[in-house]
Amino acid sequence: YKRITTKTLVDMKKKGEKISMLTAYDFTMAKIVDSAGIDVILVGDSASNVMAGHETTLPITLDQMIYHAASVVRAIERSLVVVDLPFGSYQSDPKEALRSAIRIMKESGGHAVKLEGGKEVKESIKRILNAGIPVMGHLGLTPQSIYKFGTYTVRAKEEAEADKLIDDAILLEKTGCFALVLEKVPAKLAQKVAEKINIPVIGIGAGNGVDGQVLVTHDMLGMTHEFNPRFLRRYLDLYTDMKNAFSQYSADVKSGDFPNDTEQY
Ligand code: KIV
Ligand code: NA
Repeated sequence: YKRITTKTLVDMKKKGEKISMLTAYDFTMAKIVDSAGIDVILVGDSASNVMAGHETTLPITLDQMIYHAASVVRAIERSLVVVDLPFGSYQSDPKEALRSAIRIMKESGGHAVKLEGGKEVKESIKRILNAGIPVMGHLGLTPQSIYKFGTYTVRAKEEAEADKLIDDAILLEKTGCFALVLEKVPAKLAQKVAEKINIPVIGIGAGNGVDGQVLVTHDMLGMTHEFNPRFLRRYLDLYTDMKNAFSQYSADVKSGDFPNDTEQY
């Protein structure tokens, strides 16, 4: 695929081709992720944690999301760029949701938006879709509701919550979402959802029975240290490698080893 579109992703599900997705919040990282052939780049509101150091995703603003998204879009040649609508930018009414989505599309050049929730946000999704803006859903552990949940543990283990999740997934497909993220739910339930709907289901901590996987890039690179959920596979230990590089640089500066004769004018 030369350029990934929302339609590409639906076609990939039809063909049984898995979808790869990672986060990025800046130009330099996005360039590497895009050139590696990752299908979807998510400008996640996890930037609130990863970039800004907040404890939750709630504080990040629409302006800040647009700044991150615009930086990412400048780097992209192939990947589809999906941008999270941050907490407070879509929950109060559908018109506000549409205004926020329009700002993201106009000011960042992103290709689609993502928002959390099912039935509660149906009217907002409809309004955004009516304006021609593709929407990705997000169910299961939805971090913008962390104060309602009270915990980051796995969701929908009980039948009532699992039933609501299935209903919501069907509703999101009917409403017109092009894909759906399922976060931290039992693998069996996630597979059931992926089998029930025709739009791709992209999992994080949702097992292998779904249509694609997403991870937070800084987590899979091992740049973050304290976050150790079972679903996280670390491909590098960059925290250690970077720390060692910084220590070595400091030692070289202090010893006078850096710069040497060839590293000066
Ligand atoms: O903000 C984010 O990074 C996300 C993914 C974890 C799905 O929403
Ligand atoms: Na998010």
